[in-house]
Amino acid sequence: MKLSSRVQDINESVTLKLNAKAVTLAEEGKTIYNLTAGQLPFRPMNEFVELIRSESDFLKSFQYSPVAGYPELKKKIIENFQETRGIDLNSAPVEFDCVVSNGGKHCLSNIFGSLIDHGDEIILMAPYWVSYPEMIRFCKGVPIVIETSPFDVFVPSIEEIKRKISPKTKAIVINSPNNPTGTHYSDKWMKDFADLMLEHPDVAIISDEIYYQLYYYDPKPTYFYQHAPELLERTIIVDGISKTLASTGLRIGYTIAPKSLTTVISKLQGQTTSGANSLVQRALSHFDFHQIPVYLNPIKKHLRENAELLGEAFRENGLSQSWYQPLSAFYYLLDFSQTPLMERMVKERSGNNDLSVEICEMLLEECGVAIVPGAAFGMPNTARMSLVSEKEVFSEAVAKIMKFLCS
Ligand SMILES: Cc1ncc(COP(=O)(O)O)c(C=O)c1O
Repeated sequence: MKLSSRVQDINESVTLKLNAKAVTLAEEGKTIYNLTAGQLPFRPMNEFVELIRSESDFLKSFQYSPVAGYPELKKKIIENFQETRGIDLNSAPVEFDCVVSNGGKHCLSNIFGSLIDHGDEIILMAPYWVSYPEMIRFCKGVPIVIETSPFDVFVPSIEEIKRKISPKTKAIVINSPNNPTGTHYSDKWMKDFADLMLEHPDVAIISDEIYYQLYYYDPKPTYFYQHAPELLERTIIVDGISKTLASTGLRIGYTIAPKSLTTVISKLQGQTTSGANSLVQRALSHFDFHQIPVYLNPIKKHLRENAELLGEAFRENGLSQSWYQPLSAFYYLLDFSQTPLMERMVKERSGNNDLSVEICEMLLEECGVAIVPGAAFGMPNTARMSLVSEKEVFSEAVAKIMKFLCS
């Protein structure tokens, strides 16, 4: 069978290989600390689960939903967005709508599919979420990456973004709070970004806000369109329930965007996947979104405590120069570059620029700790660790990581 070059060009996930190794080692009886998770290890809130249960009594819950989602749910999503971001979409220069899809990932694939023509450039900030460049390439677009540095806590320079914008730039993707850094851009950054975008009226802005509610230190995340609401007319927001309702497997995400785009996305979705899961959409239509912060409070406390534990471990092990304060989402991006381990490895293997995959393999084999190499996020010599694990397990894993980094 001859496969398409488009599909053959997609890079395989670095995480899969590592996870396979972690499973093999666990089967061999080794204790494995898996810090690769991109999801919360908690049950969603009871009120939501009960609604799913009660909606399962209805035939409609098992039948096709409208392609773009149930109107009552869409209305709720838009209201919740306006309320939580303090934005009035009615005052936007264009009409807005929402499309419910099979997770945030599906929203993004719909968006890229609806925007990109052959050769269009899409600007990404490294470290970026693993799937952006692959989806862009699949649509025959060109990812243009803005490099960042651990010394700037991975915050992209506005000047650098300005330099990378070209006549071919179709859109810029921003992801704040960010996977994999676990931080969100400052309000000042968002203001400067808004000012820059006002100078480029043909560039769309895709704002991936899937971790919006998961900040565990103030100030909470803010966005460029809060500074310049006129940008809303070319802003595309991605959000969903995967992270905030600990429901990655239920596959519900939503795109909030100008109607000119949501209409096209609906057309695409109607010919590819149809509407998202009816049962969960119906349950969500009756769910009170105001309960989400209440549900997240103990989870945020847990993340904050694990982040504190990690910071303490950095200090105790003399690695303060490599530490930055995570604020949101559930990750921390370890920077190997200033650690004794890296110094030693660079001496041994001169010429290799990115040792993240090798280091993560060694960490797994020697210490039983699985984390995700920065290579996956376009950030050499780093690795993403998840902060979600139960405290005792997390603390043991951190001790092993520190010993390894200092070796
Ligand atoms: C930044 C980012 N965007 C989008 C997604 C996709 O979310 P979903 O699981 O709803 O498809 C993820 C999931 O890990 C993510 O980290």
